[in-house]
Amino acid sequence: MAVATLRDVTRDRPASPPGPDATLAGILSAAWRSLEDALADRHAEWRWPVLASLDARDPAGPLPHARVVVLRAVDAARRTLEVHSDVRAAKVAQLRALPQACLVFLDRRREIQLRVLGPVAVYAGCERARRAWAALPASSRRGYLAPRVPGEALGTPDPNLPAAPRDRLPDERESEPGFANFAVLALRARRLEWLRLDRHGHERMRADWDDTAEGDDPGAPRLCWVRP
Ligand SMILES: Cc1cc2nc3c(=O)[nH]c(=O)nc-3n(C[C@H](O)[C@H](O)[C@H](O)COP(=O)(O)O)c2cc1C
Repeated sequence: MAVATLRDVTRDRPASPPGPDATLAGILSAAWRSLEDALADRHAEWRWPVLASLDARDPAGPLPHARVVVLRAVDAARRTLEVHSDVRAAKVAQLRALPQACLVFLDRRREIQLRVLGPVAVYAGCERARRAWAALPASSRRGYLAPRVPGEALGTPDPNLPAAPRDRLPDERESEPGFANFAVLALRARRLEWLRLDRHGHERMRADWDDTAEGDDPGAPRLCWVRP
């Protein structure tokens, strides 16, 4: 299956039922579709993944970090998953130093875990960041008006909110300075691993893409079952 056709497969085929009839390609397609569906539903389980990165610069040695983020965009054909961050946040410095990350999704109801690993590109102050910013509602833009660098140790609590407007959301003009603090983090899947717990027997599968292949299209992913 060519990666370029993954979006069509995702949209057109019904989700493969888990169990003995499940196929690797069917599970992969259903996983991408669930990710896309999560964008439209703020209550979707896969809307709040955990983003794990590595601080390679810690004096004590490489230190793992993980935090909850909101899934903001999915492109199954390009295999990219996007989240947003304040450009001044620790995770952005970590990802600039070591641009590899893992997004972990949990569907508690269906007991499915999805892990997507790969390189991460940071977009800030550029056209791509501008497009994402333009689509953001005022309620999301507001966070980027935080006057001070997030993550600093404090003696007293500070919500790090702008002085104005205090008691309402900023309008488009008022929120515009926030763009300077806005970043898009785009993870390109190099590996996707899916695990479903079931009392009749757990299921686990993996997809790997080889981006070292010549040209833009690395071809079909290598798919395999994995012992749970
Ligand atoms: C429900 C929820 C959603 C969050 N969404 C985001 C997000 O989309 N982007 C983000 O940078 N931080 C988000 N956060 C805050 C992060 O979990 C984290 O505390 C913050 O980004 C600082 O992390 P860092 O110091 O590792 O950069 C969210 C937190 C919660 C509880």
